[in-house]
Amino acid sequence: MNKGQDPLVLFMPAGKRGRFPVGTPVLDAARELGVYVESVCGGRGICGRCQITVAEGSFAKHGITSSVENLSEFSSTEARFKSKRGLPDDRRLSCSATIQGDLVVDIPADAAVNRQTIRKADDGREIPRNPALHCCYVTVEQPDMHKPLGDLDRLAKALEAEWGWTDLKFDPHLPATVQQTLRKRNWEVTAIIHQDEETARPTLIGLYPGLLNEAFGIACDIGSTTIALHLVSILSGLTIASAGAPNPQIRYGEDLMSRVSYVMMNPEGREGMTRAVREALNNLITEVCDQAGVNRTHIFDLVFVGNPIMHHLFLGIDPTELGGAPFALAVSGAVHAPASSLDLDVNDDARVYVLPCIAGHVGADAAAATLSEGPHRQDDIMLLVDVGTNAEIVLGNKDRVVAASSPTGPAFEGAEISCGQRAAPGAIERVRIDPVTLEPKFRIIGTDKWSDELGFEEEATKFGITGVCGSGIIEVVAEMFLAGIISQDGVIDGSLAAKSDRIVADGRTYSYVLWRGDQQLVVTQNDIRAIQLAKAALYAGVRLLMDRLGINSVDKIRLAGAFGSFIDPKYAMVLGLVPDCELENIKSVGNAAGAGAKMALLNRTYRREIEETVRKIEKIETALEKSFQEHFVNAMAFPNKVEPFPKLATFVDLPKVKVSAGIDQDNGRRRRRRVR
Ligand code: FES
Repeated sequence: MNKGQDPLVLFMPAGKRGRFPVGTPVLDAARELGVYVESVCGGRGICGRCQITVAEGSFAKHGITSSVENLSEFSSTEARFKSKRGLPDDRRLSCSATIQGDLVVDIPADAAVNRQTIRKADDGREIPRNPALHCCYVTVEQPDMHKPLGDLDRLAKALEAEWGWTDLKFDPHLPATVQQTLRKRNWEVTAIIHQDEETARPTLIGLYPGLLNEAFGIACDIGSTTIALHLVSILSGLTIASAGAPNPQIRYGEDLMSRVSYVMMNPEGREGMTRAVREALNNLITEVCDQAGVNRTHIFDLVFVGNPIMHHLFLGIDPTELGGAPFALAVSGAVHAPASSLDLDVNDDARVYVLPCIAGHVGADAAAATLSEGPHRQDDIMLLVDVGTNAEIVLGNKDRVVAASSPTGPAFEGAEISCGQRAAPGAIERVRIDPVTLEPKFRIIGTDKWSDELGFEEEATKFGITGVCGSGIIEVVAEMFLAGIISQDGVIDGSLAAKSDRIVADGRTYSYVLWRGDQQLVVTQNDIRAIQLAKAALYAGVRLLMDRLGINSVDKIRLAGAFGSFIDPKYAMVLGLVPDCELENIKSVGNAAGAGAKMALLNRTYRREIEETVRKIEKIETALEKSFQEHFVNAMAFPNKVEPFPKLATFVDLPKVKVSAGIDQDNGRRRRRRVR
């Protein structure tokens, strides 16, 4: 600290710094710099939410020599908190500790004061917090005959004086309960305040006697196949518990179009499907609350994402218009609603936020994945693909983003493949084929052993070898291509039957026997064709977006969704699912839609960011683009008939082009699936 200068304080990980007079509480310094530090008790030293640590040592880059000695001595308030609630030795309460010299202050991500079970459900990413929900502990002045201000009004006065909330609105039920609540704990209450838009009037949505030191939120991705739901502590930002369940609407149809048809044909169908999805959500909420020992009435804010049809059915909107051109959404912008209006069994006054949809077949799930992966924040060109029965594709950088969907069909999920199945124990998920002997080895879900390793058979008997899941199908087809079993145009080379008994005649075509057991698993010519159709649809969509941006290559690829999580990027490129790219720049990002929902839950700035981004994204209707057909035909070949894959060729020995005659390439014959 230079003589005559106030101490310099740097907050990490925010990286914000400033000089403050000696004696300034660290919490005040953080606030002044706009660094988010949680506080429920307003600096009374009772909530423990404002914990910090001080980094020791000399930070030459910042010109700071930081030491815990540069904080005030451990106060009696901190000692009281430590004895009652526990505080690790290196932690201080920033509302109590004051600045005495230069400091580098760390705000730990896990100032978890309640001991809920923390599940490893996060990708480890830290989300800067700026939630729409605030817990504010206040002491309200007692009534006075000479000052006839109502209880609720004195509460508002206290919230303004202690927390700076002005122009508060009240939920309509509060006047009926406020008197009782205030008197329960000697005029000390925790007010739950919701303010989504920073310029909107804040609303008092709940009031609790004494200190309510935890508030929870839900981040949920309603997928057409699976619903994934996370219980998140809004105060600490930690995911407390996660649960998933199959979407119960599957009973109305496997794919989304059949669910739309069901609604069209059954007048009661929409209500039934809405009820089913809301019930499933309530069951999952029960499950996560049970896992974590959390009272469901302490859930105040919920964020949902989903594809357009799930989005509509969840909100109780008839999705019929999404069943055909022009695929009109009832609402494309973000939706705000009371949770009670959606039959969600959480706090009566909880709020719901649903991310905006990008287009009639590129939903709020794609918007959430965009928020999570951030193509719109990149200098480079990023391609984001969420592969399902309909692939949602977003491409661009900070200057321009385009989006489309492509009708891949269910082949990537194992449907329409003779040996295909959903990912489950016993399903083949990894495949290698020896290019000389054409003998395969594989791995199944449930064991780490390869099929040629000792002990595999014993492990496999636990589940059986039941089929091939999506990632296994990609690998077996790619390996068949690399081993020369199939030609560039996807035809199984029957002449190899003379060399290997794995190649067997199957009518006028040939098949490849992957497994001979109780159940024979065979990859047929039709299976290969189904994969070709699916991958050609995906690639043609990607290529159209590249045309729109006037580019021939992409810098980064992100594969999202359940399928994207398990697919090996190398094999995705061998098949030409995605454009040529440096292997290290292709990443599987798991449930990016769920991650985006969590970001929107914990930080309302992200809500504004995605709302603005979605407004700017250029939507492209693949069905209307003339060049789609041409790209599709070229993309039927492995990896592609006309597009070079020079980067792929640096790490994979691509077979010499071997084109087979006699098989109709299905040029132009393909199915259109509008939505997944
Ligand atoms: Fe509550 Fe510091 S703000 S203990």
